[in-house]
Amino acid sequence: MTQSSAPAARLEVRHLTRAFGGKPVVADLSLTIAAGQVTCLLGPSGCGKSTTLRMIAGVERPDAGRIEIDGRLVSGEGSFLPPEARSVGLMFQDFALFPHLTVAQNVAFGLRDGREAKARRVDELLERVNLRGYGAKHPHELSGGEQQRVALARALAPRPRVMLMDEPFSGLDNRLRDGIRDTTLEVLKEEGTAVLLVTHEPDEALRMGDEIALMRDGRIVQRGSPYNVYNAPVDRAAAAFFSDVNVIRGQSRGALTETPFGAFLTPGHADGAPVEIVIRPQHLKIDFDRGGRGPLPTPTDGTAARGTVVRARFLGRESLVEFAMDFDGSRLTASVPGVFMPKAGTPLWLMIRRDRCFVFPAQR
Ligand SMILES: Nc1ncnc2c1ncn2[C@@H]1O[C@H](COP(=O)(O)OP(=O)(O)OP(=O)(O)O)[C@@H](O)[C@H]1O
Ligand SMILES: [Mg+2]
Repeated sequence: MTQSSAPAARLEVRHLTRAFGGKPVVADLSLTIAAGQVTCLLGPSGCGKSTTLRMIAGVERPDAGRIEIDGRLVSGEGSFLPPEARSVGLMFQDFALFPHLTVAQNVAFGLRDGREAKARRVDELLERVNLRGYGAKHPHELSGGEQQRVALARALAPRPRVMLMDEPFSGLDNRLRDGIRDTTLEVLKEEGTAVLLVTHEPDEALRMGDEIALMRDGRIVQRGSPYNVYNAPVDRAAAAFFSDVNVIRGQSRGALTETPFGAFLTPGHADGAPVEIVIRPQHLKIDFDRGGRGPLPTPTDGTAARGTVVRARFLGRESLVEFAMDFDGSRLTASVPGVFMPKAGTPLWLMIRRDRCFVFPAQR
């Protein structure tokens, strides 16, 4: 036990590195997870998420770096403990239960306790995943969501110090998924396990993570709370990973960049440097055309610019309206909650929530 007030790191990964056939797949990756914390490793397909998880699990050997679980070196400095000696729980997309065993036997599978202690733990976990009374059933008698919960109970039964989950919900249909995610999160929190959850779905990471580690090309490019990663992305690609984004290009002069939406503060960019002002569709505001005029400028939203509707799409929770802007024909997309379906060709005015803009050096 630690005496300090900061929560002790349950999982500590330092400079983890792995290449396949000379191609680096995980490069100098470090991360720390405390007890009871969920970190989502989020990134596009092929960026090295599963490889990272597999090295922590002990089914893949790192080329370099070290891994500690509960302060104990499990990989690095010449040592490499097998998965069963690491106190990790594993849950993958194809979590295959043992078909010939009952639910209770599946959950008890990794337990070394005596009969009674085993039965108590199984009951406790089935209760926790809302499957009380299911112990005698076989996997084929369960729905996909129920099987998923059994798999969770099975992974948690031996009280692993660290839970490693690789896209554990991607086999479930949408309707089930949110409920299962919430149950899973509750159970993991109750157990106080440190969790590393791999996903390529931003929504899942935002929903599940205390922290998001955004990964690209084998590296973690940004770490932070879901709020921070979403609202203060490190670059355009990080912003664009969470939603479509609009990009307005300009040139910084005297720490200002002129755009059709007025001047933006762009401090820290050299004179003449091309910059990109990036904004999510929900932070564009739409206003009506009043005989060729738009709304008056405001300090928070700057100047309005006019565009014509190219098309509008209804997506259920929101409508997406695509504009061709008068000033240069460029396309911008605004999202409006609920139903807003103006006809193509309708002139409308757009304003930009300035506090929601991100300014980056232009990417070539
Ligand atoms: N055993 C292996 N041998 C050779 N290349 C591999 C091996 N395992 C993974 N790779 C390669 O490493 C890269 C990263 O793979 P990884 O499975 O870690 O990606 P991922 O981020 O989990 O992607 P996804 O979201 O699609 O699951 C890929 O290009 C993959 O082809
Ligand atoms: Mg993967």
